[in-house]
Amino acid sequence: MAARLSLVACCLLGLIAATIAQIGLQCPPAEASIRDTVFQNFLKDPTSPAGLLRLHFHDCFVEGCDASVMLESTPTDGTDVERFADGNDNSVRGFEIIDEAKTRIEAVCPGAVSCADIIAVAARDSSVILGGLFYQVPTGRYDGRVSNRTLANERLASPFENIDQLKRKFANVGLSTQDLVLLSGGHTIGRTKCRFFENRLYNFTGGLPDPRLNAEYAAALRRICTPQGADPSPTVALDRNSEFSFDNAYFRNLVANNGVLNSDHVLVESSETSGLVRFLAQDPNLFKVLFAESMINMGNAAWKTRANGEIRRKCSAVNTRLTTEVGHIAAV
Ligand code: HEM
Repeated sequence: MAARLSLVACCLLGLIAATIAQIGLQCPPAEASIRDTVFQNFLKDPTSPAGLLRLHFHDCFVEGCDASVMLESTPTDGTDVERFADGNDNSVRGFEIIDEAKTRIEAVCPGAVSCADIIAVAARDSSVILGGLFYQVPTGRYDGRVSNRTLANERLASPFENIDQLKRKFANVGLSTQDLVLLSGGHTIGRTKCRFFENRLYNFTGGLPDPRLNAEYAAALRRICTPQGADPSPTVALDRNSEFSFDNAYFRNLVANNGVLNSDHVLVESSETSGLVRFLAQDPNLFKVLFAESMINMGNAAWKTRANGEIRRKCSAVNTRLTTEVGHIAAV
């Protein structure tokens, strides 16, 4: 079995390596600028990589990976944009780090690198900083001009959902059940507010805590997440005792019923996914290789092209457009 796994790992690495030659940002210094920006921000705030990894996920799930999550307003949506959707408002973060990288890149290569590509590369660098595997990010995305709050509410996964609902949301963007399990492994880093899981601690069934949650862990979580709640909501690590290490501890925690969110726990509960969870819990290297592959899959979601997108000058706003005399639209 071990030999088979290393063969799979080796072939996947080959696949990832094979894509290296085909890609690269349209501005050679850009990748280094992104890497440095992510690193400098990590030194100031070691939780920032987690925010950037999640930003890419939330970007790709609505309108594809097109930086629609960063827009503050658009001509068609007004201020009813994705960043104010339930799953994003006061939750998704890292905008200012992407803005910082964008400013650095625009200074050397104006109009060459989309915000969507910067988010994708920054997400990769964020996992690498904490111990994830380096993989080459396919690039060439254009930024979208649409950002819709209602659509984001429909498309983003909720921590209260069951396995079928989660599978459907991943399938919506062309991702498989295996991708769902692997990408949920992003919860090997970062934190969650109590409000996203406290229903499991107090009044889950008949006034009792969720019996599927390790009782000793539930007691520890109740000490942090008090029944009366608090504003701002306290936070706990998504990966018990391992929040700054990009490793397979998340899967080991799932197997021990230490998954915090309901959407984490269902992965070990469902007969369709529990085999893979247990496999990943045993093999840290396999998790890293397969996670990289699933990140590439996620990053492929519905790219915009020159025809329906643009390279934004500023990530928070679409470019202003003028109709020229010959009837073409020109960005100004
Ligand atoms: C399977 C469906 C998923 C659900 C329901 C879900 C839900 C959540 C929730 C509720 C939080 C806490 C947010 C907060 O407290 O403000 C969170 C955090 C996080 N999620 Fe997920 N998530 C899912 C999948 C993913 C994926 C695919 C990734 C990346 C590949 C990811 C990466 C993260 C990270 C890194 C954090 C920590 C963010 C931070 O510390 O700012 N999640 N997720």
